[in-house]
Amino acid sequence: MLSLQKISLTHFKNYDFSAFDFTEKVVGICGLNGLGKTNLLDAIYYCCFTKSYFTNTDQLNIGFDKEGFRLEARFEKNDQPQKVICIHRGTGKKEFSLNDAGYDKVSKHIGILPSVMIAPDDVEIIIGGSEGRRKYIDTILCQLDADYLQQLMVYNKVLQQRNSLLKRFAEQGSWDNALLDIINMQLSAPGKYVFEKRSSFIAELKPIVQDLYHRLAGNAEVININYESQLISESFGQLFSRNIEKDRILQRTNGGIHKDDLKFELNGQIFRSIASQGQRKSLLFALKLAEYQLIKKYKGFSPILLLDDVFEKLDDVRMRQLLHWVCNENAGQVFITDTHRERLEGSLKGLGMGFQIVELIAGDRPPATG
Ligand SMILES: Nc1ncnc2c1ncn2[C@@H]1O[C@H](COP(=O)(O)OP(=O)(O)OP(=O)(O)O)[C@@H](O)[C@H]1O
Ligand SMILES: [Mg+2]
Repeated sequence: MLSLQKISLTHFKNYDFSAFDFTEKVVGICGLNGLGKTNLLDAIYYCCFTKSYFTNTDQLNIGFDKEGFRLEARFEKNDQPQKVICIHRGTGKKEFSLNDAGYDKVSKHIGILPSVMIAPDDVEIIIGGSEGRRKYIDTILCQLDADYLQQLMVYNKVLQQRNSLLKRFAEQGSWDNALLDIINMQLSAPGKYVFEKRSSFIAELKPIVQDLYHRLAGNAEVININYESQLISESFGQLFSRNIEKDRILQRTNGGIHKDDLKFELNGQIFRSIASQGQRKSLLFALKLAEYQLIKKYKGFSPILLLDDVFEKLDDVRMRQLLHWVCNENAGQVFITDTHRERLEGSLKGLGMGFQIVELIAGDRPPATG
C-alpha cells in the first residue's frame, strides 16, 4: 500500500508556502479556477517522477520572481515512511533525496513511488501526435523497469549526438562513414532493447485496455491497438542504410524507435478519425486504468491516482464506478480536483468510505481542511 500523508510546497508555481496533511484514501481538492489545484497534483507527481507532468522546463515550476523551489513529501509505502525532499535552486542541478539519502542520478527515483495522473489535455494521447503515445508507453515502462529508463536515456542522448553529427557534416561539406558506423552501433544497442520491451509490453497491455474499454463502453465496440515500429520489419542496420540519403539531406535520423507509434482502431477504422468525444474519453480512461492495473500487478501495490478535473469528463455514475474501482477494489489512494465543492462532496459521499476535502482559498490564508 502506498499513500501520501503530507506535502509542503515552497515557491513552487503559485504556492509561496503551503503545507497539506492527508488523512484519507480519498482526497478531494476544491477551489476556484487558478487557485492551484492542478499545481498541487503536479507537486505530488513531481515527488514521484522528479519532474512535472506538464512541462519539461523546470524553470516554469519556480514561482514567478523566485529563485528556486522546494518540495517535501511524506509517503508511506508498505508501512514504511518515505520522505522525499526536492530542492531546485534555479541554477545547476536539482537535489533529490529519499529518506535523507541523495541520488547520484535523480532518474533512479522513478518507479519507487509510482503514480498515475489523468489530466484534461491527456486526450492528446489519442488524437494528437505520436510523441504523446510514446510518452504514455514510456511512462509506464520506466516505472516498472529501471533498465528501460536507462536504455531510453542512452538512446535519446546518442540520437542527439547522431543528429548533431549529421548537421556538422552538412555544414562542413564532409562525410565520415567510420564515425557514423560507430554512432550507429551505439544507437542500435539501446534501440533494440527499447523496441523489444515496448513490443512485449504492448502485447500485454492490449487485452487489458480492450477489457477496460468494454466495461466503460459496452461490448458492441471493438477496440484494437497496434504497435507500429519500423523495427518490426527492418533491423537497425537495414534502417540506417535505407535512410542514409534522407538522413544526409534532412540532417537528422529518420529511422529508429523515436518514430514508434500506437495505432488505435474502433470497429476496424482509425479511432481518432471516427470516435465521438465520449468514445475518446472511454479509451483515455481505459489506457490510464490499464497503466494503473499493470503497475499494481508488477509492484504488488496500487499507485497513487491523481485525477485532475475528471468531472468534466465523466458523469456522476461513471465517476462513482471509477472511485469504487480505485478505492474499494484496488485499495489505492486517490486525489481528485473540482471547482465545485458540492459536486465533489456529493459524489464522494456516495462511496460509503471516509474522505477528506481540501479547499484552496484565495490569498495567504492557510487552506481549510474538513
Ligand atoms: N511558475 C509560476 N509561478 C507563479 N504562479 C504560477 C506559475 N505557474 C503557474 N502559476 C499560476 O498558477 C495558477 C494556476 O494554478 P492551477 O493550474 O493549479 O489552477 P487550478 O486551481 O487547477 O485552476 P482550474 O480550475 O482553472 O484548473 C495560475 O494563476 C497561474 O498563473
Ligand atoms: Mg486545474
